[in-house]
Amino acid sequence: MYYPDEIIEEVRSKNDIVDVISGYVRLQKKGANYVGLCPFHNEKTGSFSVSRSKQMFYCFGCHEGGNVITFIMKYENATFSEALEKLAERASITLPKYELSEEQKRKAGKKNLLLEINKEAARYFYYQLRGNSGKHGMDYFLKRQLSEETINAFGLGFALPFGDDLVKYLKSKDYKDADIIEAGLASFDEKRGLHDKFWNRVMFPIQDINHRVIGFGGRVMGEGEPKYLNSPETPVFDKSRNLFGLNFARSSKKDYLILCEGYMDVIAMHQAGFKEAVASLGTAFTSGQANLLKRFCNSVILSYDSDGAGTSAALRAIGILREVDLNAKVLDLKPYKDPDEFIKNLGREAFEERINTAKNSFFFETEVLEKGFDLKDPQEKTSFYREIAKKICGFADEVERNNYIDAVCERYNISADAMKKMVISYAASGIVRPEQTIKSGVKKADPAEGRKQAQRLLITWMSEERDIFDRISEYISPSDFTEELYRRVAERMFDSFNSGTPFEAASLVSLTQDEDEQKEIARLFNTKLTGLNGLPVEIDDVRDKEKALHDILISVKTASLEYHSQNIGSDPDAIKKVLEDKKLLDDLKKTKIKLGGDNRHG
Ligand code: CTP
Ligand code: MN
Repeated sequence: MYYPDEIIEEVRSKNDIVDVISGYVRLQKKGANYVGLCPFHNEKTGSFSVSRSKQMFYCFGCHEGGNVITFIMKYENATFSEALEKLAERASITLPKYELSEEQKRKAGKKNLLLEINKEAARYFYYQLRGNSGKHGMDYFLKRQLSEETINAFGLGFALPFGDDLVKYLKSKDYKDADIIEAGLASFDEKRGLHDKFWNRVMFPIQDINHRVIGFGGRVMGEGEPKYLNSPETPVFDKSRNLFGLNFARSSKKDYLILCEGYMDVIAMHQAGFKEAVASLGTAFTSGQANLLKRFCNSVILSYDSDGAGTSAALRAIGILREVDLNAKVLDLKPYKDPDEFIKNLGREAFEERINTAKNSFFFETEVLEKGFDLKDPQEKTSFYREIAKKICGFADEVERNNYIDAVCERYNISADAMKKMVISYAASGIVRPEQTIKSGVKKADPAEGRKQAQRLLITWMSEERDIFDRISEYISPSDFTEELYRRVAERMFDSFNSGTPFEAASLVSLTQDEDEQKEIARLFNTKLTGLNGLPVEIDDVRDKEKALHDILISVKTASLEYHSQNIGSDPDAIKKVLEDKKLLDDLKKTKIKLGGDNRHG
């Protein structure tokens, strides 16, 4: 469905955001805003804030944000149109009804289209599994001891044993060949024409954290190669930034998540009540996934296969988790291969017991290391101790380092003093420097991020205090915002300020139907000045505020000048603008921005 901007705006403005969100989240009034526990990440103190005056929500913890339409999209896992329809109904607005033209469909966004196709495919597979021709698939799942409830909860499905069944179905829904191919569900060749990627397989839909189907894994029933076939990467399926099961695990009340290798492992764990299990997507665990996990938990329990391949994968994952400062522990599944088999054989209590006794990742590493040395041989034993010393150097924190020295010495019966000396001599020799292997968590400032932050701050401040805009409008224009999205927002904002029409930030969120962009726009209006420790600071003193504003302005203007000088080409207008801007910046540096009263030019 396509809806004109005026309709979107009418629906948005007739659904007060505080009223709507109160139906989903318990909100408390705090100052000008309403605050509650964020429904989009696991937290114990409320970072989720809803503003009646801005008609926006924003989470200072996970940075989700947007207007009332974004909220429904996210919470209900709805597309833009679905959210709009729901809100229209709530406000008793009748929406005009007409189908998209081909042209409008293309404009409505490739991503939405691919998500829609995946959703249709998931529906189709789901339906097939439950029909007569899906009996083979259903028998397979039942044989693997999945309950009907589990099969439904994960939306499992079945691809029929024909070569173009899904293609026919999708085409009957008017999707185009090229889009079906781009969604990763079909390919084309001379001999077979357009044909299904998945056939005669049981199907596992892969969902993002908002429960949207982004791809599939398909398993052969029984033996056969490849055992699993997965959707290729597409504009909506990024295998390095999604995890199977996280859409459910995110609302588990535990402060840890269990990371494993297989779809079946996740499903078996959830069925046994371990709803905190997730898996990577047929590819190695990545730092993008580690960052994603970090939004929802403080530590990760690795539950990888107990064979050699599983062990090396676990070692790699430990390193990646450490990089983002996530604690890791490792589950021992022996004598079974994976969590699925373990639970089938020993049951949930035994699995719970293994969780409680999961091994600290450092000892897991030293134990693997130990296997490479013959400890009966004095020389090898020394080498093994050296390797341990080297690893301990990786702990930047002295107390932590000493705790590990004590623990490891007790375990291997080494003298703690000797080990301390060894660690110090390693650290001193510079072979390994503390902090080199294990990051301390303080990230190096990213200049591009700093630039963006200054631009965001400026937009937030101008939107909150009209006076600020009036003070600085002589120095700044929308073209100073080097991010394309920020510039579009600034243009609208400057237009309404200059023409005196009322400005509503929330309406700008619907400039786009893309959730990620909506979130970024919300962020633009909710940026706070942060101190060196990364925490927001409030400025009460007007002088301090003037100074901060001056700094931010200079930073934005400098970045803009840099950007425009680099992209100047030979356009005389562009050259003129850069020269003018240079003068403006020099002037700005000499001027004191005053809030209330006139700016003082120096
Ligand atoms: N995998 C894959 N392609 C394969 C084999 C495995 O993408 N040919 C991925 C799948 O995501 C799978 C995971 O690796 O879930 C783990 O593989 P494996 O341990 O072999 O399978 P299980 O998940 O244990 O599946 P099953 O219990 O059905 O054998
Ligand atoms: Mn398995």
